[in-house]
Amino acid sequence: MISTSKKLLSVLKGERYDVPPVWLMRQAGRYLPEYKKTRLIAGGFLDLCYNPKLAAEVTLQPLKRFDLDGAILFADILLIPNALGLNLEFKEGEGPILETINNHNDVLNLLKTNTIHNTLNPVYDAVSLIKSKLDKNITLIGFAGSPWTVSTYMIEGRGSKDHQKTKKFLAQHPESFDILISKITDATIDYLSKQIEAGADVVKLFDSWAGSLPGSLVEKYSLKPMKEIAERLKDIFPSVQIIVFPRGVGPHYKKFSQIKAFDCVALDSNLPLRWAKENVQKNVVVQGNLDPSFLVSGGKMMIEEIQNIKKMFSNGGHIFNLGHGITPNAEIKNVEILIDTLHR
Ligand code: CP3
Repeated sequence: MISTSKKLLSVLKGERYDVPPVWLMRQAGRYLPEYKKTRLIAGGFLDLCYNPKLAAEVTLQPLKRFDLDGAILFADILLIPNALGLNLEFKEGEGPILETINNHNDVLNLLKTNTIHNTLNPVYDAVSLIKSKLDKNITLIGFAGSPWTVSTYMIEGRGSKDHQKTKKFLAQHPESFDILISKITDATIDYLSKQIEAGADVVKLFDSWAGSLPGSLVEKYSLKPMKEIAERLKDIFPSVQIIVFPRGVGPHYKKFSQIKAFDCVALDSNLPLRWAKENVQKNVVVQGNLDPSFLVSGGKMMIEEIQNIKKMFSNGGHIFNLGHGITPNAEIKNVEILIDTLHR
């Protein structure tokens, strides 16, 4: 028996509907004028993340405009490295700039896991505040970055396309790299535990750069740490639902769908729909996977894509979403059309 009025949560637990539940990655963000206004009031992006009242406000903004089934906590995957002691800045137009890890000592000098809450407490307060204001039919999603993706920012210091510095560190100092991964893993379990205690129904692990790993290392550095996090969270919170997003791993997606502790696997936009249905959705609930650029272009092709995705996944578990985050130039009107198209 599934005793919840939350449609998204019930699909994760095995319920099926004609119209899939929907939410959108980065649904709170710069394509919304009200978001830009609140960020200005907060003073900057990080100030917004660490201000429970304003973080709750921007989390709820997209739900006021659109008929969505999920709210995702407003925060960032780089708050964990920040809480582990690395200085973090977000520069307008440049993205994040993080103090870097360059050697074994830098790994050892990270703060102890049990001190992260000193920095991250405002995030848990934001979760409680959102929960208290959220309609009972809406699922609250907490999140963190995966250990691999977070490690790339800690070693590169910023976004990177090829992650050469991270791969060089991994190859030259494998023991130090493994200690780093295990530190991030432990911190992530503590961080997500607090989000769940504060009211998150679901947690999602973003492995945005899983596709940058050579195939031979996907299992060791993407799948395994996320499996450990999911299993340890389920030991403590047996009813929590867990979504993983190993973006860009191609045929490895099948392996992720076979892990019992993962309740849902989020698909990127590159995956062929039929392959994903036959190899991933066969084993697990899937989420995705409209290319976010359709929310910029709109039109007939966007509508056909939405209908194709809905139809292909209609016989199994499916949460409608994008294959990656909404971009700042997305049109609000196209988000409205997306939701209408799904409901028709
Ligand atoms: O609405 C939501 O999805 C919730 C909030 C959320 C943010 N970041 C807010 C944000 C979530 C889930 C994230 C995750 C995140 N952060 C990821 C994984 C998902 C992905 O997109 O692959 C990554 C890699 C990051 C790190 C990060 N944060 C980068 C690389 C950037 C700069 C890129 C950009 O879009 O500018 C950010 C900034 C960021 N995080 C913004 C938002 C709304 C934009 C910053 C701003 O408002 O100035």
